Order: sequence, then structure tokens, then C-alpha cells
Amino acid sequence: MNRQGNPFRPGNGIMPPYLAGRESEVIWFENSLNSALFLPQNLVLSGIRGIGKTVLLRKFEEICAKKKWLFVRREFNNKLNREEEFLNALLTDIIAKTKGISLAKRLKKPVIGFSQGYEEDIEGDVISILIQKYKGPLSDRLEAILRKVYEAILEAGHNGLVLLYDEFHFLEDGKKADNFPLSLLLESFSHVQQEGLRYYLVLSGLPPLFPNLVKAKTYAERMFSVKSIGNLSKESSGKAIRLPLEKSNIIFTDELIDTIVEETQGYPYFLQFYPYYLIQNIPKKKVGLKEFNEMCPLLLKELDESFFSGRFNRASESEQRILFEMAKLGPEIKFSELREKAKIDKNYLNQILISLIEKGLIFRARRGKYKFTLPLLEKFLIRKR
Ligand SMILES: Nc1ncnc2c1ncn2[C@@H]1O[C@H](COP(=O)(O)OP(=O)(O)O)[C@@H](O)[C@H]1O
Ligand SMILES: [Mg+2]
Repeated sequence: MNRQGNPFRPGNGIMPPYLAGRESEVIWFENSLNSALFLPQNLVLSGIRGIGKTVLLRKFEEICAKKKWLFVRREFNNKLNREEEFLNALLTDIIAKTKGISLAKRLKKPVIGFSQGYEEDIEGDVISILIQKYKGPLSDRLEAILRKVYEAILEAGHNGLVLLYDEFHFLEDGKKADNFPLSLLLESFSHVQQEGLRYYLVLSGLPPLFPNLVKAKTYAERMFSVKSIGNLSKESSGKAIRLPLEKSNIIFTDELIDTIVEETQGYPYFLQFYPYYLIQNIPKKKVGLKEFNEMCPLLLKELDESFFSGRFNRASESEQRILFEMAKLGPEIKFSELREKAKIDKNYLNQILISLIEKGLIFRARRGKYKFTLPLLEKFLIRKR
């Protein structure tokens, strides 16, 4: 049960009580939306799991609304690597979003000729009808639709449309044979942006996202600004704990706050989890270091079970063995060193690493270098040993 007045909110994409330390990203985005009135802008937002990408996108939604830009947010997954399905998702977003400004109606009517009353029924077909209406390669069709939609966006008094696409590292060209969803997206958007149409791409995901884009189209380098978000500074971490507490009836001692900042290393998910857990489990108005130290083994156990184990257990036995080796070498692990430590065949190690990437435990930081997608996973692995 929730202890009354517990302000902290550990979770996935759940807005924290106070969004700490992202002031510069917020200001950057506001300015960028202003610039986008005159010059195309796109953003890649990257960082590991639980660092606060999704909640920052939610903050961006507020900014879009304030500045009169339409926006859509979508979470991507593996399945959308097929061009047709990707295009379908993209068009669904655009149509759904612009429906409110009766765009779908305008697009539908001349195409299908149904009276207004039928509109809801034929909703699902709009996309296929749209795609049929425009001929040629998928990218040409997408561009044609984007141009059409744009008129309606402007007519309705909006500055443009922002696509806030989350978990976008899942998208990769060539992942499914003969499917190039990233090329499709980049090509079409760069074309319409060159014509001055105000579409704005915000792509968010794990760090391999930007390299994936550049691999698809080298000009992606010039299309996107890249913001990597990381752990919060000590000062911001302190605020992330202190400010929400001020509005509750619970007090943490300064010592305790400093300790939490230290222990979590400013990792946003933990900055919610630690205080939340303490408040739930210590029925006192004032909590100090003594209570924390008593509670710590249980807190870590809960953290291991709820946060780390689930992912770790997805790995096979041989993969887990490699993870333990990696923990000793972290935070950035060199393939060659790992191979030496683990004493296994190069190809086999490669296979294991690919599988660990697919299971979302590690990512390739650079050529021949790997990192954990979860912070402090090394510590967890060492605890486990
Ligand atoms: N700037 C921040 N200040 C305080 N808490 C944050 C901040 N950013 C994220 N959080 C918290 O961290 C957790 C993970 O955030 P989320 O956006 O889901 O991360 P990601 O999308 O990068 O995996 C959530 O519980 C959220 O409330
Ligand atoms: Mg997220």
C-alpha cells in the first residue's frame, strides 16, 4: 500500500514529482522550436535505461503545446522494422493527431466519397486507402501525404508537427531482409523539410540510435542535433529528493540525502526508488542515516529483485558467465580484454554479445567496446557473486 504522502515515483515513464537537472535540455528544446519556424530542426535524445528520456519527452509535449506545435508520442519496438508496418504506424500517428483538426475528414472524403456518418467505421482503412491513392515508391507516397497533411496543420493555426518517437533504437535498416525503415523516414523527412514544411523529428532511445541513423543515411549527421542525457549532478540529485519532500510531511536528514545522492550516483530511477522505498518502509516522520543503514540490505534486495534480476535472468548460463566477467572490467568493456578474461573463442563471444544486446542488457558503445544498459549493474553482479 502507498504510505500517504509518499511523493516519489519510481517507474517507467512516470513523471517525477520534480524534474531535476534537465533545465538546459528544456531551454534548448524551446529555442529549437523557435528556430524551427525558419530552419529545419531534429533531435536525437539518447541515454541508458531509467535515465529519464521518456519523462523528458513528456516535458517536451508541454513545450510543444505551449508553442502551438502539434505533437505525437509513440513507443517503438522490434516489430516496426518492417517498412509497411513502420509506415502504417507513422501515418496512424499523423492521421490520429490531425483528426481533431478534421484533416482525416478532408483526406477521406474525396478519396472514398462516403458521407460523414461513416467516418468512424472506415477509420482503420484510411491508411491503406491513403497508400493506395498515392503511387510510386513508399518514400514518394509518404512525402505526398506529408505535404497534404501539412496544409491542414497550418490552416488549423499550428506551427507544425513534432514526432516524439521513443525507444527508437529498435529501428534498424536491414534488420528485416530488404526493409529499410530508417532510410524511408530520413529520406522523406529531409525532402519535405527542404521544401520548408515544418515537421520536427525527436528520436529518443539507447545510445546506438544515432549510429543507426548515420548508417542508414550519412546526412543524418547534419539533420540531427544530439543530446545525450546522463546521471544528474550532485546538486540536481539533491534537489530531486529535497523539493518533493518539502511538499510532504516527511523529513530526511541532510546526511541521509547526501548518502542517497552518493549511493545512487545521480541515476534518476534510483533517485525515485530509494526515497520511495524508505518512506514506504520506515513509519517515521523523520528519517536519518541510522534508519537507512538498517533498511539498506532489504532495499538492495528489493532493488535486485525488482530492477536487476528480471533482466539478468533472461540471459542464459553462458551469457551470465560473460556478464560476470564484464562486471569486473566495466564500465566500458573492451572486446579484446573480455576475450582474454573469458578465454573463449572470438566468434562464440561475438554471438553471446549479440544475444546480450538483443536481450537489452548491454549495448555497443563504440567499435569493439560495450557497456551495460543498466547503471550499477556491475555492483549488482558483484553482490550476486
Ligand atoms: N530529471 C529527473 N528528476 C527526477 N526523477 C527523474 C528524472 N528523470 C527521470 N526520473 C525518474 O526516473 C525514472 C525513469 O524515467 P524514464 O523516463 O522512464 O527513463 P527512460 O525513459 O530513460 O528509461 C522514473 O521513475 C522517473 O520519474
Ligand atoms: Mg523510456
